[in-house]
Amino acid sequence: MIVFSVRPVVSILLVTLSLLLVVLLLSPPSPFSESSVFSNSAVGKLDIWSVRRIAEWRPCKWWLQGDQTALLAESNGYIRVDCYGGLNQMRRDLCDGVGIARLLNASLVLPKFEVAAYWNDSSGFADVFDVDYFVQQMDGFVKVVKELPAEIASREPFRVDCSKRKGHFDYIESVLPYLLKHHYISITPAMSQRRDRYPLYAKAALCQGCYNALRLTRALEKKGSELLRAIPKPFLSLHLRFEPDMVAYSQCEYPGLSPASMEAIEAARVDRKPWTGETARVWRNRGKCPLTPKETAFILQALSIPTDTNIYLAAGDGLMEIEGFTSVYTNVVNKSSLLSAKDLASMHGNMKAALDYYVSINSDSYVATYFGNMDKMVAAMRAFKGLYKTLLLSRRAFAEFTSQGLKGKELMKVLWKAHKDEFVMGRGSALPDCFCEFKL
Ligand SMILES: *[C@@H]1O[C@H](CO)[C@@H](O)[C@H](O)[C@H]1NC(C)=O
Ligand SMILES: *[C@@H]1O[C@H](CO)[C@@H](O)[C@H](O)[C@H]1NC(C)=O
Ligand SMILES: *[C@@H]1O[C@H](CO)[C@@H](O)[C@H](O)[C@H]1NC(C)=O
Repeated sequence: MIVFSVRPVVSILLVTLSLLLVVLLLSPPSPFSESSVFSNSAVGKLDIWSVRRIAEWRPCKWWLQGDQTALLAESNGYIRVDCYGGLNQMRRDLCDGVGIARLLNASLVLPKFEVAAYWNDSSGFADVFDVDYFVQQMDGFVKVVKELPAEIASREPFRVDCSKRKGHFDYIESVLPYLLKHHYISITPAMSQRRDRYPLYAKAALCQGCYNALRLTRALEKKGSELLRAIPKPFLSLHLRFEPDMVAYSQCEYPGLSPASMEAIEAARVDRKPWTGETARVWRNRGKCPLTPKETAFILQALSIPTDTNIYLAAGDGLMEIEGFTSVYTNVVNKSSLLSAKDLASMHGNMKAALDYYVSINSDSYVATYFGNMDKMVAAMRAFKGLYKTLLLSRRAFAEFTSQGLKGKELMKVLWKAHKDEFVMGRGSALPDCFCEFKL
C-alpha cells in the first residue's frame, strides 16, 4: 500500500528533476552573465520588471497617519505661495510653501500658478487642481482659506522672494518678521532649502499637501480618463525629453543629428557654448547629457522591453529625432494622436502637462530619460499608489560604457546589469522626505 502511494510522487519528482537537468544542459549559453534572468529562452527574455526586488519606497507612516500637533488658534498671518515654471516645478514649490506656512503658523491662501500671459484671467491653480479637495485634505495640517478677510483682501501681499536664496537659511528667522509686520505675504520658496530641520508637524503638512491633497479638477480628470481609456493596454508611459532648449542648455554635443535638429539647438542657445574635448567627455560621463530618442530605444531593448510594447509618449511638442525611437518601438501614441485638436486647443500648457502626469501615474510602467520635476513627482505618486514599475534611465551608465568603447550586445549586457541593480535596490526611484525605504 505504502509503496504504491509513494511511487507516483517519487517518479514525478524524478521526471521533473531530469527534465530540469535536460533543460539546464540543453539551454544555450546565455550571452549574458545574469543567466537566471535570461535563460527563459522559450518564452523570450524576461523584462526588467520581472526581476525580484529587495527594497522599495513607500510613504512614511508618520505623516500618513496624520500629525496630531494642534494648530495654534491664532495664525501669524496669511501666506500665498507664488509658483513659476512648468506644472511640476510649481507643484514642488507649492509643496515647500505648505511646509513653510505650517512652520510659520500661517494660514495658506490658494497659491498662484503661473499661466501663459495670453491665457484668459485664470487662477492657474484652480484650472488644474480641485480646490475644495485641497482645502478638505489639509484640514488639521494647515489652515487654508479660499477668501481673505475683508480688511486685507483689497491689497496685494508683501512679496518675499526666497527663490534666489543660496545655502541654508531659516524661514523663521528670515520670513516670519515680514509675516508679522505685513500680515499678508507672498513667497516663492528657495530651491536649496533643507526640510530635514523642520519640526515633524511642518514636514507632515508638506507631505500631505504634496502627495495627498492634490487631485485634478473634475474636468481634467474626465479628459484624463478618456485619454487613458484610448491607450492600448497594457502600456508603458515614457517621459522622453530631447527638446532644443534643454539640449542647448546641457552643453552637450551630439554627432549624427539631422541638420534640422542641429539648427534648432543652435537657435535655442543663449550663452552656453557646448563643451569640447576632454571636458565634454568628463561632462558626459557625469551623466549630464540627455539621452537621444535612439539611445533611449537602445536602453529599453537592453532592459528586454519588447519592441511591440504599447507606449504612451508623455512629451510636449518639439521633441527632436523621435524617428530614432519610433523606428524601433512602433506602437507609440501621444495625447495629440488620441485627443481631438479642439480638446487640446481649449487647454493651456499646465493642463496638457497635467494629462501626461495623469496618464503616467496610472500606467502599468513608467520610464523617464531625465530626472526632472515631472519624473520626481510621478515616481513619488506611483510609489504612493504602490505601482513599482518605475525606472529612471541612467545617462551616466550609458555615457561611461559607451566611452569605454562598448557596443551592441556587450553594451546591452552592462546596461542591463546597471539598471537591474538599481531596480532591485529600489534606488532608481529613491524618494526623499516623505517616503521611507522598506525591505521586501
Ligand atoms: C507654531 O505652532 C506650534 C504648535 O502647533 C508651536 O509649537 C510653534 O512654536 C509655533 N511656531 C511659531 C513660529 O509660531
Ligand atoms: C504625437 O502624435 C502626433 C499625431 O500622431 C504626431 O504628429 C506627433 O509628432 C507626435 N508627437 C510626438 C512628440 O511624437
Ligand atoms: C479661456 O479661453 C479659452 C478660449 O476662449 C476657453 O476655451 C477656455 O475655457 C477659457 N479658460 C478658462 C479657464 O476660462
